[in-house]
Amino acid sequence: MATIGTNLQEARKLLEAGQVIGMPTETVYGLAGNALNLQAVTRIFEVKNRPSFDPLIVHSSSREKVSQFVREFPPTAKLLAEVFWPGALTLLLPKTNAVPDLVTAGLDTVAVRIPNHPLSRQLLQELDFPLAAPSANPFGYISPTQAIHVQTQLGEKIPYILDGGPSQVGIESTIVGFEGGEVIVYRLGGIAVEDIEKIAGKVRVMAHSSSNPKAPGMLKSHYAPRKPVFTTGFETLTKQYSPEQIGILAFQEPFAEIPGTNQFILSPEGSTSLAAQRLFAGLRHLDGLPISVIFAELLPEKELGRAINDRLRRAAAK
Ligand code: TXA
Ligand code: MG
Repeated sequence: MATIGTNLQEARKLLEAGQVIGMPTETVYGLAGNALNLQAVTRIFEVKNRPSFDPLIVHSSSREKVSQFVREFPPTAKLLAEVFWPGALTLLLPKTNAVPDLVTAGLDTVAVRIPNHPLSRQLLQELDFPLAAPSANPFGYISPTQAIHVQTQLGEKIPYILDGGPSQVGIESTIVGFEGGEVIVYRLGGIAVEDIEKIAGKVRVMAHSSSNPKAPGMLKSHYAPRKPVFTTGFETLTKQYSPEQIGILAFQEPFAEIPGTNQFILSPEGSTSLAAQRLFAGLRHLDGLPISVIFAELLPEKELGRAINDRLRRAAAK
């Protein structure tokens, strides 16, 4: 099993030796390694069991450091970075040769983010290389929002997990790219499209495609628990299964037909950001119950509700 701790020196020593570790961020926990070291990057793909056509996000601690491996920073990207970095925004930017092709799956752009988490920011400040870090879950499964989630799934394969407490945002970063003067959202995430549009103007959301060549990792079936998930057809489920066999992920109100112990309420107050924070832990909780299926209630299609619904629909696509 991995050691769970808050020892930055230990984390740094392991990363400098080319090893990969669990790292907290405000969105979800990452599986981090030296982005400029082929051996470390290869190990990330192995540990995650991730196909090599799915590129990684590179994490850094400052705009200055980012400019060392990015060729060009379009004006709109600069504006967005000024407002949302550090934070849950990933920008797709033209890369320099310093970034191995393995990191970007051969693409000409690299995904970059400055995370807003005190521990990982300090770690990144102390390192003289950026960290490639996909979410620290086996490929296709729910992302981890606590150190213990990383331990349960990848603990046998990594030496150390830096514990930064529960992730405050709870869903992955919003991925934004720039093409022919257009701003494109490739993955809905922790920063709402409405907030991005306040800065960048109208954007195009392309995050729903299952075969989007620009974003090979955005597979339709993703973020899935082991149990089947449904987001529609509750009536039909109640005919096929007894109430005891159905788990509920509800937004605000419990479902009257189903036992309370089978239900996880995301936010009784109706806060979409609290719902995001609790989403993956809720799915994990339900996945561990002695039930047969999970019904997940969709949220109103606005703010972080859009990103949450995107995750739920993908979980249901399996
Ligand atoms: O919040 C997050 O973004 C977390 C934390 C750890 O930072 N990371 C994360 O990484 O969610 P991951 O690997 O689970 O998802 C990264 C996504 C993938 O779907 C991948 O296809 C896409 O980013 N991606 C990476 N580089 C890309 C690129 N150059 N062009 C298009 N999509 C890219
Ligand atoms: Mg992921």
